[in-house]
Amino acid sequence: MTAYPPIREQLAESASADDPAPTDAIESGDRKLEWARQHMPILAALREEVRENQPFAGHTIGMAMHVEASTGVLVELLAEGGAEVAVTGCNPLSTHDDVSAALDAIDGITSYARRGVDDEEYYAAIESVLAHEPTITVDDGMDMVAAVHEDYPELIETIVGGAEETTTGVHRLRAMADDGALDYPVFAVNDTPMKRLFDNVHGTGESSLANIAMTTNLSFAGKTVVVAGYGYCGKGIAAKAAGQNADVVVTEVEPRRALEAHMEGYDVMPMAEAAAAGDVFVTATGNRDVITEEAFANMEDGVVLANAGHFDVEINLERLEELAAETYEARDGVQAYEMDDGRRINVLAEGRLVNLASPNAQGHPIEVMDQSFGIQAVVVRELIENGDAYGAGVHDVPDELDKEVAEIKLAAEGVELDAISDAQAEYMGSWDHGT
Ligand code: NAI
Repeated sequence: MTAYPPIREQLAESASADDPAPTDAIESGDRKLEWARQHMPILAALREEVRENQPFAGHTIGMAMHVEASTGVLVELLAEGGAEVAVTGCNPLSTHDDVSAALDAIDGITSYARRGVDDEEYYAAIESVLAHEPTITVDDGMDMVAAVHEDYPELIETIVGGAEETTTGVHRLRAMADDGALDYPVFAVNDTPMKRLFDNVHGTGESSLANIAMTTNLSFAGKTVVVAGYGYCGKGIAAKAAGQNADVVVTEVEPRRALEAHMEGYDVMPMAEAAAAGDVFVTATGNRDVITEEAFANMEDGVVLANAGHFDVEINLERLEELAAETYEARDGVQAYEMDDGRRINVLAEGRLVNLASPNAQGHPIEVMDQSFGIQAVVVRELIENGDAYGAGVHDVPDELDKEVAEIKLAAEGVELDAISDAQAEYMGSWDHGT
């Protein structure tokens, strides 16, 4: 395997005024981690538990995640529970180098994540993680599971299972399982209520719009925002854009989702038509070529294009580049493509997920990630405790684990709920109570 070095070695080599030496980076990363810890009550409760019980002892956890502060708190928790952890990024632009360095400085953790890596470095870092011979994989987008199966199948024998964070990763895993090519159990963390109903809807909605606003310094009020894909993420983006006084247009390919958007009061139309109406475009489909030549031709001067889906394939940038007479950096994180007729089409964060890859992006709000990573922590525990019960393939997160995380959060928020009575439980479970 190649020897792509951990971040602290890389920072030490390239230290300069703009690129802080490891000590500065570690201090800055520690501050970010401390801030995140203060707002992650679920991980705080689980951390107490794993510190005491050491459920992860003897395991090596290989992770490919967006390495920012809230992910860092999960990484710390896994190490405090006894695991050796090796971590890298799951996107070339989403790593916070200071957080990565602070993690790398903790006993039991090696971090290879670095912002701005090229394709070769990105995959070399995944190989370096795999050189630790993980017994558990934690992915956001499935790149690590793919690398294990394609390049290091000898690791599969000792891997007890994996966990997948996002919709696109779960889609890829299900396709792999359908082909009979997935050789160990993986939990679809994305699909469980405590993740998808909060992270995808509220997290992506808030952080995508916040990052578009920060990167452009433009308002949504009075603008037409076109949301491509009315899934969990799209719903959040649409609702929060409407909440900021934008007119929202939705594009869809799935009839029930299109109808849902229509009934919720949004204009629904094909992208080619929406292209002429929109000021800001946000893709959240998990699909490719959602905004392409036909749409570019219909857009007004000055439009802003951003992607919130996992991979950078939703906006066809290759075609846009070919069509453009000139391209230039309009602002930090904004690339302008000037057409022959003078119209400028502005693309944010190189078409990568805007809430994580923009210059000042911090990802989802911390509270939301507390829930998603609470699920990650309990499914890792489940794999270690009961891994034998799960065969190769994609598995739903057991409902009791999802509820466990919800209960921790409610307790932390001081929210009480009713308990179902025996009579109610009996009634709900019976079929013989008619009129
Ligand atoms: P979802 O499956 O609930 O929704 C996707 C929607 O896009 C579906 O309704 C589908 O019919 C629609 N769609 C597919 N192709 C389309 C096309 N050509 N035009 C218009 N609509 C189309 O998925 P979810 O959970 O909303 O995730 C969407 C993407 O966002 C995935 O890539 C996921 O991995 C990513 N994601 C990103 C996050 C972030 O932090 N930016 C967080 C969570 C998910």
